[in-house]
Amino acid sequence: MGKVLTIHGGVPLEGTVRVGGAKNLVPKAMVAALLGDTPSVLRNVPEIKDVTVVRNLLEIHGVKVDQDPETGDLTMDPSQAKSASNQAIDAHAGDSRIPILFCGPLIHSLGEAFIPDLGGCRIGDRPIDFHLEVLREFGAVVDKAVDGIRISAPLGLKGAKVHLKYPSVGTTEQVLLSAVRAKGVTEVSNAAIEPEILDLISLLQKMGAIISVHRDRIIRIQGVDKLSGYDHTALPDRNEAASWASAALVTKGDIFVQDAQQRDLTAFLHVYRQIGGEFEVKSNGIRFYHPGGDLNPLILETDVHPGFMTDWQQPLVVALTQASGVSVIHETVYENRFGFTDALVRMGATVQVHTDCLGSTPCRFGQRNFKHSAVVVGPAQLSGAEIDVPDLRGGFSHLIAALAADGTSRVTGIELINRGYEHFMEKLTALGANVELSE
Ligand code: EPU
Repeated sequence: MGKVLTIHGGVPLEGTVRVGGAKNLVPKAMVAALLGDTPSVLRNVPEIKDVTVVRNLLEIHGVKVDQDPETGDLTMDPSQAKSASNQAIDAHAGDSRIPILFCGPLIHSLGEAFIPDLGGCRIGDRPIDFHLEVLREFGAVVDKAVDGIRISAPLGLKGAKVHLKYPSVGTTEQVLLSAVRAKGVTEVSNAAIEPEILDLISLLQKMGAIISVHRDRIIRIQGVDKLSGYDHTALPDRNEAASWASAALVTKGDIFVQDAQQRDLTAFLHVYRQIGGEFEVKSNGIRFYHPGGDLNPLILETDVHPGFMTDWQQPLVVALTQASGVSVIHETVYENRFGFTDALVRMGATVQVHTDCLGSTPCRFGQRNFKHSAVVVGPAQLSGAEIDVPDLRGGFSHLIAALAADGTSRVTGIELINRGYEHFMEKLTALGANVELSE
């Protein structure tokens, strides 16, 4: 039996929280350290589970990892990189999807890679077919085994012209991490251009990689034989920032998110203002608050960058349960990211999920029995409930719903929230939440 979080609702969250380095960049930056022949230094590293998983995976592959006890900065020395046993890799892979990104760097340094069965959040099938297709285009041989996948490239990886069926974040990272030391030129079209990808490109550029980003989602990479280590400060976590922003709206609170960056949150801030939330951009962060009065319903579609990001959707849906009228949300990135609304309905929200594409953009999931559109009718008075956290963002959404609800909620499975929200218990307490953790 895991820990139980008891939440007494009805308290507006007020105060300051600081967001750390981005969860969707830091573990990948750690993998990139394997590509250098000198140590890399990564700063602004959050204390989250994916960082621990990647640190363990680097260490079993012979990378020496030191963490500064004061600053949390990581120094990663790959000069003694070596193969690890399948069992060791399997034991340390945790439930993260990051191991798939070890393929290119491990092939470059050791000639082969073993990838165990992958986890990650339960928000759809989350296949790795795009990753494997790309690796094959680079000349890798993929052998499926019962316990995972063995990938080798006896002749080394060769640059390729790759077109992605969808601008997948992970697959674009796979291309970057494989192409920087492949032989020859790589061009990837329909690439993802999320801020975390651009930060990864900056870091690879510091290592000596030759990368250019072009119009229309095209990225070109000229492979080089050797890369050196980097010294890089991770960009702040815009998804955590957006989560706290939604928490302020849902609880009628006022939260200053230190280190939130406007530049990477444009689409979110636009929607926040449409709903009726207020924000104030300062030099060291953004203040998000509920100005009083009614919130407005809206029509919203998630999309790849620069659109409204899928990771912002779940906490924002909780805010929409408090808006006066009918909102429609079309999730176009994941086929199964509305499972968390079941608990909201049990708490008193009116949310219906549909298989149709309820938006102006027909998406990949239409007519395929995926409940990927939601209609929310508000405002609803939420009441406390028993909740088991389904996934990272869905779990955070349940927490903020419980914080706004009448009465007491008991939440289990909160370990999942640690995957992406650093010190979230301390942060909740600092914001005045009435919460208790028990075994
Ligand atoms: N997809 C495939 N085949 C593949 C890869 C992806 O069909 O081989 C599909 C996915 O199933 C999904 C879509 O393509 O429907 C987009 O997936 P993408 O590859 O872009 O996502 P990811 O790299 O697996 C990262 C973040 C997610 C974030 C997405 C979208 C990390 C560790 N994870 O996932 O973060 O939602 O990009 O921006 O970077 C989260 O933070 O809660 C989270 C889930």
